[in-house]
Amino acid sequence: MVDGGKAKIKSLLYPMMAWADRHFGFLEHCWSMKSGKQIEEYFGTIGDDADRYIAGVLEAIQFENFLELGCGCGNRLFNIAKLYPQIKITGIDVSSRAIKIGNDFFKSSGIENVEFVQKRIESLEDFPSDSFDVIFSRATLIYISPKKIVPVLKEIVRVAKKHVILMEMQGEDLKNDPRGTGIFCPPGNWKRDYVRLLGDLGIEKECIRVEEVSTSVWSPGGGGATLIMFEKKKGF
Ligand SMILES: C[S@@+](CC[C@H](N)C(=O)[O-])C[C@H]1O[C@@H](n2cnc3c(N)ncnc32)[C@H](O)[C@@H]1O
Repeated sequence: MVDGGKAKIKSLLYPMMAWADRHFGFLEHCWSMKSGKQIEEYFGTIGDDADRYIAGVLEAIQFENFLELGCGCGNRLFNIAKLYPQIKITGIDVSSRAIKIGNDFFKSSGIENVEFVQKRIESLEDFPSDSFDVIFSRATLIYISPKKIVPVLKEIVRVAKKHVILMEMQGEDLKNDPRGTGIFCPPGNWKRDYVRLLGDLGIEKECIRVEEVSTSVWSPGGGGATLIMFEKKKGF
């Protein structure tokens, strides 16, 4: 099938998937539909430009523990775990299959400093406040709907101790998205104004590093791939 046809089918499919998730927890089962080849593709990203970019970002900061939101099978965590064997790393993902694949792969690779937990980003309540020096997400908040994004960001800020590093789709479109909570970009991503939403939570614009990332680092449908990074100050 030509790419345009595939994109059209996906743009119909994703809203249906969001509906199915609301009613039947569809996301938890999403990875069950991935083929062996698709999973290999995830692991095939290890060591790519995105990993190099993330390593560069981390080089500049100090941290003792690290949480990735929506870690999938740990394709991003692999490089981080190798670079920082002394750091305690946690990866959460909604999919139990992704978590199992990640666990098995890391065990067989002899990596012992990563814990995979099946968990939704919308349910961080059992993590105490200030519990992770770094909270990281890449291509995950794009799946969070406008209704949920503000409470999710609030929780991220609560649970973070020092640094929040988001690689997500940033965009400003006051006309179509006056509150900044999201514009739907087919095939199934939400682009939003994180800077504004974080500003509403008290994170000053001047304290947020915003950097467009190149397509070799991440090229989402709808564009806007951006690093949004800030340090949490005491008292938040
Ligand atoms: C596009 S993948 C990104 C994986 C990895 N972060 C990377 O950069 O390659 C998005 C991941 O987010 C997970 N995910 C989506 N919505 C989620 C939610 N509400 N809670 C937890 N994980 C979620 C999916 O299961 C999937 O593994």
